[in-house]
Amino acid sequence: MRYEELARMRAGEYRKKENPVTLGIESSCDETAAAVLRGAREALSSSVYTQIPLHRKYGGVVPELASRSHVEKIGAVVTDALEGAGVALADVDAIAVTNGPGLVGALLVGLSYAKGLAYAAGKPIVGVDHIAGHIAANYLTYPDLAPPFVCLVASGGHSHIVLVGDYCRFSLLGRTRDDAAGEAFDKVARALGLPYPGGPALEALAKEGDPFAYRFRTGFAQDDSFDFSFSGVKTAVVNLLHTAQQRGGEVRRADVAASFQKAVVDALCVKSVRAAKAAGVPALALAGGVAANAALREALRQRAEAEGLRFCVPEPRYCADNAAMIACAGHYALMRGAPDPLWLNAHASRELA
Ligand SMILES: Nc1ncnc2c1ncn2[C@@H]1O[C@H](COP(=O)(O)OP(=O)(O)OP(=O)(O)O)[C@@H](O)[C@H]1O
Ligand SMILES: [Mg+2]
Repeated sequence: MRYEELARMRAGEYRKKENPVTLGIESSCDETAAAVLRGAREALSSSVYTQIPLHRKYGGVVPELASRSHVEKIGAVVTDALEGAGVALADVDAIAVTNGPGLVGALLVGLSYAKGLAYAAGKPIVGVDHIAGHIAANYLTYPDLAPPFVCLVASGGHSHIVLVGDYCRFSLLGRTRDDAAGEAFDKVARALGLPYPGGPALEALAKEGDPFAYRFRTGFAQDDSFDFSFSGVKTAVVNLLHTAQQRGGEVRRADVAASFQKAVVDALCVKSVRAAKAAGVPALALAGGVAANAALREALRQRAEAEGLRFCVPEPRYCADNAAMIACAGHYALMRGAPDPLWLNAHASRELA
């Protein structure tokens, strides 16, 4: 039987199974990840190899190094995920793989590996949008969460407010017009002399500072849109530090960190809560790497609940890049549509559809 026919037949069987097993693969940026999911939401394993130490000395992700590292690690990471779940490749019912957005060279490593496995073992394959994956991380933590809800995706490359109309139906309500929230954290952290990636280090420093010491503003704070701009606040912090340095003045770095974090958190909270209320949904979810930030998690919880919204946020290990969230999003895609052909390609950027 030709691969395409076999994959379609097995995708049909997948839909009928009570608890189909999905192998997820993720390599969009600087984490090589694989996971095994049972049914829609039970992660049997989640293996993540992070390249952070590799990129630290450059202060950011170097795409060529990222691709090479994915090539070196992908086999071991997939094996680790299968062994951790106690399943063999033969027990896997389908393969879900991130095919965008991300670094195209990095994406191609996971995608090519997944295609090879799918073809060799006769398994259906489905390409998953990385942002849809971040949103799906919430399903892993909340077994009863179902659309519709609004999700704030705050990560290294995105700050999106998304209306999740159904498991595979998304509408973009708002977005950053320039830097993503995580990118702003990383750039400000760098200006403060903190190591890469800056988000967690800046959060730690902010705990010792006064969030009211400086008044930083984010863009589009006063308008009716659900859009953000974080590039101005980043520049304001950098200018403050430069001016102080040139004049030999004193700056309390912890106060700068706390005040910057407050400005970003306030903007994210105000707009996402307003968007959820305007959309008339019962719940507001948070996702993406910046969702690991405790100040954001707490502020958004309080503001959402004060407005009568249920608040959801994935456990921290599912906020950062991982493949359990990719397997989960892939599961819902396979339950609703046909598997992808083997000519499935990678896309550096694309709209969430
Ligand atoms: N505690 C934290 N506080 C603030 N930011 C954080 C924290 N932890 C992680 N981040 C930020 O999250 C980002 C990484 O998130 P993630 O891995 O989801 O991004 P990405 O996959 O590179 O981008 P995208 O998901 O948009 O493609 C980094 O910018 C990092 O600084
Ligand atoms: Mg990500």
